[in-house]
Amino acid sequence: MVVAVDKAPLVAEKSGSIIETVHPVQLSWRDISYTVQEKKKGKGKGGANAVAPVDMEQGAGETVLLNGVAVKTDGGKGNSKMHDKRILQSITGHAEPGSFTAILGASGSGKTSLLSVLADRLLYSKGATVTGELLLNGSPAPSDYRNRCAFVQQIEVFYPHSTVAETVEMAARMRLGRKMTKDAKRAVAHEVIQQLGLAKAVDTRVGDGGRIKGISGGEMKRVGIACELVSSPSLLMLDEPTSGLDSNAALNVVRSLKKLGTTGRNVIASIHQPGSAIFAEFDNVVVLAEGRLMYFGPATNCMHHFNQIGYSCPQNFNPADYMLMITSLDYGSTDSENESRLALDKIQIHATDKAPTMNSCSDAGPGPAIENQTSFGEQFSLLYSRIFRDAIRNTSALAIKFAQGIVTTILMVFLYADLRGGKVVPIIQANVSALLFFITITGLFGPLFGTIQAFAPEVSIVIRERMNNLYSVGPYYLAKLAVAIPVELAPLLLQNSLTFWLLGFTHSPARYARFLCFTCGMALASVGIGFVLAVAAGGNAQAASASVGPIALIFLLLGGFYINTSTIPIWISWISKLEYVRFVYEGLAINEFNGGVLVVKDSGTTHDGLCKLNVPEAICSNGTTVLANLFNNGESRTNEEWEAVMWWNFVFILISIFVFWVLGYFVLLSKGPKYLKLAAK
Ligand SMILES: Nc1ncnc2c1ncn2[C@@H]1O[C@H](COP(=O)(O)OP(=O)(O)O)[C@@H](O)[C@H]1O
Ligand SMILES: [Mg+2]
Repeated sequence: MVVAVDKAPLVAEKSGSIIETVHPVQLSWRDISYTVQEKKKGKGKGGANAVAPVDMEQGAGETVLLNGVAVKTDGGKGNSKMHDKRILQSITGHAEPGSFTAILGASGSGKTSLLSVLADRLLYSKGATVTGELLLNGSPAPSDYRNRCAFVQQIEVFYPHSTVAETVEMAARMRLGRKMTKDAKRAVAHEVIQQLGLAKAVDTRVGDGGRIKGISGGEMKRVGIACELVSSPSLLMLDEPTSGLDSNAALNVVRSLKKLGTTGRNVIASIHQPGSAIFAEFDNVVVLAEGRLMYFGPATNCMHHFNQIGYSCPQNFNPADYMLMITSLDYGSTDSENESRLALDKIQIHATDKAPTMNSCSDAGPGPAIENQTSFGEQFSLLYSRIFRDAIRNTSALAIKFAQGIVTTILMVFLYADLRGGKVVPIIQANVSALLFFITITGLFGPLFGTIQAFAPEVSIVIRERMNNLYSVGPYYLAKLAVAIPVELAPLLLQNSLTFWLLGFTHSPARYARFLCFTCGMALASVGIGFVLAVAAGGNAQAASASVGPIALIFLLLGGFYINTSTIPIWISWISKLEYVRFVYEGLAINEFNGGVLVVKDSGTTHDGLCKLNVPEAICSNGTTVLANLFNNGESRTNEEWEAVMWWNFVFILISIFVFWVLGYFVLLSKGPKYLKLAAK
C-alpha cells in the first residue's frame, strides 16, 4: 500500500515544529577521483572500466596504460595481475541547501561510489585511494563531517517484527542525544512519520520484504528516510531510494524528498532510471558514465545542453532515458564500443559546471554536529527492549524451539523409559552414558543454531547502525546476550527438567541442581560460539550454519563418548582438554555415577547403598569404578577426587563461556566499518 504523500501535511508548515529549523549547508566537491586495485585472473570480459589482458612479458610492477586505465603487471607471476581500476575520475560539483540534486547514470557508472565519497562513507579496501576536496559552506569538511550528514543506503534492513512507529521512535530516541525528553523524541518521530506520509502504516510491522509480511517497498524506503530524518540533518543523502518501486511509489518517495528540500535541507540522491515525472522534480542533476562526469547543472537545462553539443532528444522522449542512452557504452562490437567511447569523451569535455551557486551560506560555517549516542544505560535499555520485542514477536521461532524441546523429551522418555533395565552393568552403563551424551549435545546444537538464526539477520542492521555511530558494541552485545540467554535456556530447562525427573537418573535436589548447572553451561557456551560464527560470517546465516558441521564433529568426536579421552594420543589430546562438550559430559556422568552404584534390577544393595560382597562387577558396580573405566583408563579415584574433577570441569565450562562471549564481542567490534580517508590531490 502506498500512501499519497500529497495528503500528508508538511510539518515545516506548522509553527513550532521541532524538525523545522535546519542550518543551511552547501556541499561542494572538487576533483573527486576514486581508484581501487583489482586482481584479474585470465582474460577479462571487458565490463565497465575493465582492462584488456596485458602481455606478461613486462617487468614486475610495471605500469602501462590501456584504454586510459593504469595497469600494474605482476611480472609474469602466474596468470594474475593487479590493476588500478578507476571508479571515479575528477568529479566536481556542488549541492545547495533547499535543493534536490539527483545523481543519474547507468548501473555501474559510479553513483553509489560518488554518494559514498560525498557522505564520507566510502568503505576501506586494500590499495584503494580517494582524492579530492569536500567543502562545507566553503570550508574543508570538518573531522566529524560523517556525523553531520545522514545517509540512507540502497537496501535498508530493519527489525522485521517492529512496527513503523516503534522503528522510527527507536531511531529518534537513539539519535536525539541526552538533553531531549523521551516524550519530545516521540513527538519528533511522529512528526517525521506524518511528514513522510507513513501515518497509515504507523502500526504495521515493518517486515523483511519477503517471508515476514510487512509494509510495502515504498513505505520501507520512507521508513529508512524517516529514521535518518529524526535528527533533522541539513544534509541528506540517499542511494537509489526509488529502485525496486513501481513508478507511482517512486514518484511519492521523490516528492517526499523534494518537500524536504523546500524545508532548507540539502538532499542528494542517486536515482536509477527516473521516469519523466520524477525527472521534473529534480533541481540539479549529476550525470555519470563510466565514472566520468557527463553533465552537471539544472535539470531544466540539460536537454538544451545536450542539444547544443549535437545530441537532440527526440520529442516525447524521457530526458533521463535519452541521457542514459547517449552516455552508455555500446559493447555490440569493437567498432561500436570505440565509437561510443569517443562520444563519451566529447560529452565529458562539455560537462562544465552549469549549476547556480547560492553564495548566501558561504559564511554560515559548517553548523552544529548531529548529536548522537545516548548514555550507556539508555543504549542498553533501548536495545534490550527492541531485541526482546523482536524475539517474543517472532512466535514461529519460539514455537519451533519449544516444540523441538517437547518432541525430543517425548522421544527420550519413551526410548529410555527403562533406563536401568539392562541385565548386566555394562549395558546399563552404556545406556545411561548414551543418554547423558545425548542431553549434552542437545545443549550444543539447539542454542548454537538458535543463536545463529536469531543473530545473523541482525548483523547487517548492527553494522549499519554502528556506521551511523548510534551506539557502542558493548551495550548492544550485553542486550543481545540478555535476550538470547533466557530465550535459549527456557526450552532447555523445561526439556532437561522433564528428562531428569521422568527418567531413572539418581534423583536428589543436589544432583538435579548440578544437572541443570552443567546443561545450562553447555547452552551458554554454545550461545557464545553461535555469536562468533554469525558475526564472523558477516551475518550470512547459511555460511555460519555450514561452519557448525566441522566444529561440531570435532566437539563430538573428542567429547568423551566416542573415545575414552584418557586414551587419546598425547599430541591431539590437548584439544579435548580445551573443549567444553567433554567437560559437560564428564561433569554430568560424575554427577550421576559418583557416590552411587550401577546395579542390575532385583540384585539389591547393602543398606548403605553399596554393592553386596562377592557380587560380580557385571551385576553390581560402584560409581567410582564406572567413572574410572569411562574417563580414567581404569585407574581408580576416590569419591572426593571425582567430586573435585567435577567442580574443576564446571570451572572450565565457566571459562569457556567467558572466552566465547568475549571472543564474540571482539569479532563484532572488528566488524565495524573501516573507511577510506579522502586525501588531497
Ligand atoms: N571496492 C571496489 N572494488 C572493485 N570495484 C568496485 C568497488 N566499488 C565499486 N566498484 C566498481 O565500480 C563501478 C561503479 O560502482 P557503483 O558506484 O556501485 O555504481 P552504481 O551505483 O552506479 O551502480 C562498478 O563497476 C563496480 O563494480
Ligand atoms: Mg549503486
